[in-house]
Amino acid sequence: MKSVYIRGNASLYGEVTIQGSKNAALPIMAAALLVPGMCVLRNCPCITDVEYMCRILTSIGCRIERRGREIRIDAGALTDSRLPEKYVTRMRSSVMLMGPLLGRIGEVSLSHPGGCVIGDRPIDLHIKALSRMGAACRDEGDRLSAVSCGLRGTLVRLDYPSVGATENVIMAAVAADGVTCLENCAQEPEIGWLCDFLTACGASITKKGPGRLLICGQKKLHPCAYTIPADRIVAGTYLCACLAAGGEALLRGAPEGENEALEQTALRMGAGLKRSKDALWIKRTGTLLTPGRVETGSYPAFPTDLQSPLLVAMAQAEGESSMKETVFNGRFGVVEELNRMGAGIEVKKNTARVPGARRLKGKHVRAAELRGGAALVIAGLCADGETIVENRFYVDRGYEDICRDLRLLGACVQDG
Ligand code: EPZ
Repeated sequence: MKSVYIRGNASLYGEVTIQGSKNAALPIMAAALLVPGMCVLRNCPCITDVEYMCRILTSIGCRIERRGREIRIDAGALTDSRLPEKYVTRMRSSVMLMGPLLGRIGEVSLSHPGGCVIGDRPIDLHIKALSRMGAACRDEGDRLSAVSCGLRGTLVRLDYPSVGATENVIMAAVAADGVTCLENCAQEPEIGWLCDFLTACGASITKKGPGRLLICGQKKLHPCAYTIPADRIVAGTYLCACLAAGGEALLRGAPEGENEALEQTALRMGAGLKRSKDALWIKRTGTLLTPGRVETGSYPAFPTDLQSPLLVAMAQAEGESSMKETVFNGRFGVVEELNRMGAGIEVKKNTARVPGARRLKGKHVRAAELRGGAALVIAGLCADGETIVENRFYVDRGYEDICRDLRLLGACVQDG
């Protein structure tokens, strides 16, 4: 298993270009199933989850051509509706293929995505919404199947603004007969990018207010060429790295207006930020101040995906801080490894108390999931001595090459 080797206790100085967004690319790849013909997706990140999605789409009859970060998807002749178990169990977000497959061919079956180390990953909101649109869903324990003889547009109000359920409903509604009014939907930027892609293919989607979309179904869709936007979570990860380790970084292509909660937190912690047309510059050379209380939530609240990376910066800050995790019920798993490095974090229920001003010590640690793995790499940048982060494959699910990027920012990082 590959690991990441980090020589710590050095500030960052450099510039890096932010990759395409994993959480925009995956739903847009799924949405390509709705389009008979060849869609061209540019700036797709070269990450494991995109590779898994390509394999799933190929297994159900899509013709896929990959040239670096360009992926061509021809969903003209789908041949199967059963999603391959080995990829579904590795990539929970494959559940978002239900909507487009029900809309396109009226059936889908997949193994239960199940839970993972960041917490439960139920799909009840997906099932409830798709059933309301006319799908007949059957939960056979380890497998789930759904059929529909024609989805119908209707009012769908989500009990929680789930990102994946929102994406599933949007894609189902685009193929449904009639108009769907989606309420209390997620407002993450990736929802907007999915709507942007579908609109470019001829769909009719109107934003009627915060968390409210109107989708007129059964518009004739045509293939399009689309550029995947930059990844706000990768940009936010490197911003947290600079906060924690100190120094200056220029994040080329960092999306504007998609990381407000993090950027406000960074300013509170004493960082300097400067936005140019297509880049974000961050400088943290003075004392790192505590941000006080931070609470994750659905967008535009502080993103749960940056909770672990910010914990590392909090552990370096002068003064106590706290992080309340309200989205996933198991997202403090990385704290155990951070505490082996000396972070001194105390977790009670869904809140972590971070005493701060801790000198971390380099250790041999293990990643157990994507964003926690990235946080351990950031901790290695701050720690005295060398840190080895095992199970690098978790990090590779969402970061094209975290070693390449951090070396561009001046870090002493090797992969092996
Ligand atoms: C998406 O996951 C992202 N993944 C996650 O990023 C991100 O953390 C999450 O949204 C929240 O922003 C992709 O976009 C591929 P949810 P998703 O449905 O759609 C509960 C990363 O690191 N829920 O918004 O699975 C659920 O248990 C990944 O890039 C139900 O109860 O997230 C959780 O508590 C990790 N029933 C909350 O909603 C449901 O049917 C948020 O989940 C669905 C969700």
